[in-house]
Amino acid sequence: MLNMKDIAITFNEGTLDEKKALQQTNLHLEQGDFVTVIGSNGAGKSTLMNLISGSLKPDVGTIEINRKNVTMMPEYKRSRMIGRVFQDPMAGTAPSMTIQENLAMAYARNKTRTLKIGVNKKRKQLFKEHLETLHLGLENRLTAKVGLLSGGERQALSLLMATFTEPNILLLDEHTAALDPSRAELITKLTGKVVKQFGLTTLMVTHNMQQALDLGNRLIMMDKGQIILEVSGEEKQALTIEKLLQEFQRIRGKQMESDRAVLG
Ligand SMILES: Nc1ncnc2c1ncn2[C@@H]1O[C@H](COP(=O)(O)OP(=O)(O)O)[C@@H](O)[C@H]1O
Ligand SMILES: [Mg+2]
Repeated sequence: MLNMKDIAITFNEGTLDEKKALQQTNLHLEQGDFVTVIGSNGAGKSTLMNLISGSLKPDVGTIEINRKNVTMMPEYKRSRMIGRVFQDPMAGTAPSMTIQENLAMAYARNKTRTLKIGVNKKRKQLFKEHLETLHLGLENRLTAKVGLLSGGERQALSLLMATFTEPNILLLDEHTAALDPSRAELITKLTGKVVKQFGLTTLMVTHNMQQALDLGNRLIMMDKGQIILEVSGEEKQALTIEKLLQEFQRIRGKQMESDRAVLG
């Protein structure tokens, strides 16, 4: 369903700030895969997401979604295929618009060339039903401005807006990191639920290793612009934080050895 082949991207090439954000990266996702993504700061996790969404184009390599080559397809054309939630609760919603207007906007984005964002009766009912699934009482606040919601509520709404149109791929970039622990847990639970409900193919970046182990059927670890570890299925189920850290150190150690060999 998603096929990334030999992807590389370098920022500020040829300058002192040159940064190889991704190098020779390959990633293949099957329909319904739920992949958690971990890795240190600057490992290239967000860059990977930006390439899938189309907000960045790779220097080399190809990206296919459902066998269609989308490598150079502009972001707005891909937006129907992609649902995305960012870390910042302010990023996914429009604060000066009401809850129902925000949902209508997400709904319209998914329809080809529909610029009407009106809220008719039938749609209002649909939005209410979707909001009810969040169990936050938002279905009774359809005309409330989104700017008045708490961070957790906004993130729940962002998640709903990113998923209820059933995108091909859902991208979650540390979407619980800015929330307090109880709200983060709520959003995590909600994530598991909607991903399952719609059978969404999902990539979720998280700093929380336990979360990365608990959720999803696959896990990838990134470091310095590369995917350095991939586990899935039973192997993932058997994994612990301790084993994960050991594995990270083992791979890092190997890299340092080969770096030293190259340097002589
Ligand atoms: N638009 C950009 N311009 C220049 N450098 C960037 C840009 N985006 C990311 N980088 C750099 O690329 C590397 C990978 O960044 P990123 O993908 O955001 O890492 P992560 O999400 O894993 O923390 C970092 O060193 C970052 O500073
Ligand atoms: Mg990031």
